[in-house]
Amino acid sequence: MYKENKQVTTPFFNPVQLGPITLRNPVIKAATSEGRSPDGKVTQALIDFHRGFIEGGIAMTTLAYCAISKAGFAAPGEILMVRDNIEGLKKFTQAMHEAGGLASAQLGHAGPVATKQITGFRPVAPSRFFNLTSLQTCRAITQKEMQEVIEQFADSAEVAADAGFDAIELHFGHLYLVSAFFSPWINKRKDQYGGSIENRTRFAKEILIRVKESVKDRLAIIVKLSMDDGIKGSIWLDDSTQTARILDETGAVDAFELTMGSSVSNQMYLFRGETDIEGMAATQKGIMKLGVKWFGRKILGEYPYKDLYMLESARQFKPVVKHAKLILLGGINNYDHINQALMEGFPLVAMGRALLREPDIINKIEADTNTVGLCIHCNKCMFSVFTTTNCVFTKEYAITSHAAIN
Ligand SMILES: Cc1cc2nc3c(=O)[nH]c(=O)nc-3n(C[C@H](O)[C@H](O)[C@H](O)COP(=O)(O)O)c2cc1C
Repeated sequence: MYKENKQVTTPFFNPVQLGPITLRNPVIKAATSEGRSPDGKVTQALIDFHRGFIEGGIAMTTLAYCAISKAGFAAPGEILMVRDNIEGLKKFTQAMHEAGGLASAQLGHAGPVATKQITGFRPVAPSRFFNLTSLQTCRAITQKEMQEVIEQFADSAEVAADAGFDAIELHFGHLYLVSAFFSPWINKRKDQYGGSIENRTRFAKEILIRVKESVKDRLAIIVKLSMDDGIKGSIWLDDSTQTARILDETGAVDAFELTMGSSVSNQMYLFRGETDIEGMAATQKGIMKLGVKWFGRKILGEYPYKDLYMLESARQFKPVVKHAKLILLGGINNYDHINQALMEGFPLVAMGRALLREPDIINKIEADTNTVGLCIHCNKCMFSVFTTTNCVFTKEYAITSHAAIN
């Protein structure tokens, strides 16, 4: 369907093929860790939250951050993607399909972003590493443990396929475990997983190949890949374009969702807009609360918000990625942004905060392409991930029932 009230050159509402699946339009709900599964299981609140986005017009929602193991949790209230939880996961996908959309599951291991308070385990990283945000020292993961992580990714992917998910999104970004391997700042390994870009990409490649073997063409495989961490000495575009090329050459990736920033430090590089120090302080207790008030701005960083703020970097991947599609993310708020992405050869877009603010923004845009998103990038949703993720303006979407349904 072509819109008539603007000079439109792209068929916004045309379906998009992604590997073995077809999306009814190019809009994916980006993962926004939802805090609606206190026991690591699907709840009615989680289903209702995601159904809102599908009913609001997007093509596919992303069940955010499903940990592949207990040690891999990043925040409380996340899903554990294991077979024990499959009945609830099936109800989740069934609800999305009945509402007319598709469901993707983000799979990850938090690595240096994990904390002992949440997982019960000392966090791991490619090498021994001190995380300034969590104030925890990670130990270096062993090769034997890496093999276990590879198998856990493959098992979780199979559970997702059996549960009826249409896609999985492998979290290879934000300095979580896999992307920490890309980073020369964290990865000081002397074995075949450290040093050259080929070596630093090896772990990701092994996970990807094993996941593909496990799910074959039963679902689409998306890789969420950091283009640039915003940290001196870590990953920048010269590295990440090569990582993308190496992963793309496996033929196992259906799309790269291009992201940036890190959850280890300088977090606002990913988000842009207001730095919510009060929000971060509220997640801490005692002396840590004071520490956040004094040093929070230095740790989180400060970056002005700009529409389509990842576009310039994402353009660098077009000449290198030959097989997979590219998903544009970051500051997509209205019809013109989506249109520009499509015109520039990004066949899909992912939206986070704009959808938290208005789950039905795509229906609104469909009715009127002049619709301007209401999200003001105050980022007060950011720290709600430690309780129940929501936009402060749309609390009515926050909670139905937090009881596990399997
Ligand atoms: C509240 C909140 C929670 C988020 N949780 C996740 C997450 O679980 N996994 C992830 O990869 N990104 C997460 N993100 C990042 C978003 O997926 C997205 O990359 C970012 O918000 C930029 O897109 P936007 O400008 O459309 O919001 C989160 C973002 C927000 C605001």
